[in-house]
Amino acid sequence: MTAPRRIFVTTALPYANGSFHIGHIMEYIQADIWVRFQRMIGNEVHFVGADDAHGAPIMLKAEAEGITPQQLVGRIAAERPKYLKGFHISFDNWHSTDSPENVELSQDIYRKLKARGLIYKKPVEQFYDPVKGMFLADRYIKGECPKCHAKDQYGDACEVCSSVYAPTDLINPYSALSGAAPVLKSSDHFFFKLSDPECVAFLKDWMGNNRLQSQVANKAKEWIEGGQDKEGNATSLGDWDISRDAPYFGIEIPDEPGKYFYVWLDAPVGYLASFKNYCAKKGMDFDAFLADKQTEQIHFIGKDIIYFHTLFWPAMLKFAGEKSKELNAANPKVRHIEYRVPDNIFVHGFITVSGEKMSKSRGTGISPLRYLDIGMNPEWLRYYIAAKLNANVEDVDFNAEDFIARVNSDLVGKYVNIASRAATFIHKYCDGKLAYAGDMVPIVEAARASAKSAQEAFDAREFSRAIRDIMANADRINQAFDAAQPWVLAKDPSKLAELQDICSRTLQGFKLLSVLLAPILPTVAARVAREFFGLDRDFTWSDTEVIPQHINPYSHLMTRVDPKLLDALFEPPAEAAQVTPSTPHPTSPAKGDAAKTGSQSASSGGTASNVPPPQPSHAGAGEGASHISIDDFSKVDLRVAKIAKAEHVEGADKLLKLTLDLGAMGTRQVFAGIKSAYDPAKLEGRLTVMVANLAPRKMKFGLSEGMVLAASGDEAPGLFILSPDSGAQPGMRIK
Ligand code: 2FM
Ligand code: ZN
Repeated sequence: MTAPRRIFVTTALPYANGSFHIGHIMEYIQADIWVRFQRMIGNEVHFVGADDAHGAPIMLKAEAEGITPQQLVGRIAAERPKYLKGFHISFDNWHSTDSPENVELSQDIYRKLKARGLIYKKPVEQFYDPVKGMFLADRYIKGECPKCHAKDQYGDACEVCSSVYAPTDLINPYSALSGAAPVLKSSDHFFFKLSDPECVAFLKDWMGNNRLQSQVANKAKEWIEGGQDKEGNATSLGDWDISRDAPYFGIEIPDEPGKYFYVWLDAPVGYLASFKNYCAKKGMDFDAFLADKQTEQIHFIGKDIIYFHTLFWPAMLKFAGEKSKELNAANPKVRHIEYRVPDNIFVHGFITVSGEKMSKSRGTGISPLRYLDIGMNPEWLRYYIAAKLNANVEDVDFNAEDFIARVNSDLVGKYVNIASRAATFIHKYCDGKLAYAGDMVPIVEAARASAKSAQEAFDAREFSRAIRDIMANADRINQAFDAAQPWVLAKDPSKLAELQDICSRTLQGFKLLSVLLAPILPTVAARVAREFFGLDRDFTWSDTEVIPQHINPYSHLMTRVDPKLLDALFEPPAEAAQVTPSTPHPTSPAKGDAAKTGSQSASSGGTASNVPPPQPSHAGAGEGASHISIDDFSKVDLRVAKIAKAEHVEGADKLLKLTLDLGAMGTRQVFAGIKSAYDPAKLEGRLTVMVANLAPRKMKFGLSEGMVLAASGDEAPGLFILSPDSGAQPGMRIK
């Protein structure tokens, strides 16, 4: 028997300025299934997470809310357990990068890299906002595109013509934070010498050792060996700017007043900080764990943050660790921490909804909180995601019909129902006792073979394969049960042994399936183990080989999905019908810019919730609203519309279907989330205001070709559509 593995597992640390989105939850489910499986086969796993608390976006968001960054981070941290518990994510610890452990470890790593000669200082000229008194990351600089002259483009790329440029190329640049014209200013920055030949050699070796999925290794090698940037220029590994100037919410660079670590330096150190915090709570020796050659360090991440995890992070750890040993040998007072390079980085794709990237504002996103709040079973989602996940970097698509089919036909129809069917006979005719006719060896061997192939699939993160095999097994069990016709046997007392045999075999099969599904369905499996089979513990993997002899009465394990729940899950919240879709701006991980990373999907393919939009900071702006130019406003085509028809929408709780008359512009069909406030009959004939140039959106109930404006407040209840003054005509432009 091989010794159990000792594994330290993490998931990417979410920015602490927004709630979890479904992409985070997908990543946690993937990692949690793997972790639970490892624990079941007897390995020692320590699974930790933390909030990624630092960086300019968090600082600015807190400022806009009039609170400290610590307060903002604290508020977000307080809501984490609801989601983590809700989806049965079995983290051993949740911590923060804004913690003493992280300060200590980040500064220690920096000092050791510096002693190793891998840190240098050089002046960098950058745009500076004279009103805010801060340097501006590209995201916070806007201006006219130098190529196509589109207005209000970001500092790195044009969303209209897709050209890529430096912020200094923008025509009439302005600060998106204050509106002020930025000035160029020089300041010293600290760099990590990633281009050092030893660094490059180490990284090439590190990534060549089967640690990475082949797609990931290829991408990382391209970055190292030089490839092409978006404009087709040859690239090679550049040094990494690891500092930011005050004001910045982060960790101070030792002996360099006014300089802070760039958030991406201390973020992954947060993995270790959380683990150190956990070790202290558990009385484990953090240093000894890291120093033990047998332990493993594994990070689950999304495909958008491969760059940081396959280049900077292993290089930081490798050279800080090496120097640590050397410094400690020369002077035992220097504490040695055996920073170990990651053993694996497991990368997943994004989650899409019916083939499209999610958008909260268009109502196509899945809010994990809404999922829980409307009473959807978290294990349905765990099962569905598992059924679609493999070890490749592929996106996972959530499709409502597919979700209903897989849960209802496979999970409930094939797995859960087996137990209730067989258990009924065993209780009625056999007093709960199981008995098998004939040789048990083939049964045990078949169970062992199933467990072996599921074990291989789980270990390799091929969850969809595991589920396919498990469900094929469920099919066989159901077929054997049906073929034996126990309902016929039950009528003939002379067939009692036969009845007991087939029902026992069926329940032994059910037990096997339950153990194999336990990493995915932890609460169902725990109930099956304890309530149904009477164990005083949860299942372990070896329970696959134990033939059950008795069952307790069956109690209901899982309901089918009511399709109405899916309607409720997707129905756009009322306010979603009233906001213009946000357009995420492009990211360029290779440039490693703080303000841009995480702006798309934060390692997990959700909406742009990780970086707040630039916030107002000067007097005059209304609370919560930032200034826009008149050009911005004129992009919105607001029109007077007559509500020609207003109808209920079957299956929608909040929507009304409106047919809007725009005079010479014809009619439009719009789905508006105003059902709670209006009787459709009373709306007909009224004039209102609509956004006429909103991109049409395909909804579950049909195409929505615009948006009706309505007022609502956070404090007071109610929803109020707008009306123009009398005399206005359908189709008139509002400006
Ligand atoms: O992209 C993101 O959401 C980052 N907060 C991920 C950090 S992962 C690790 F490095 F902390
Ligand atoms: Zn352009």
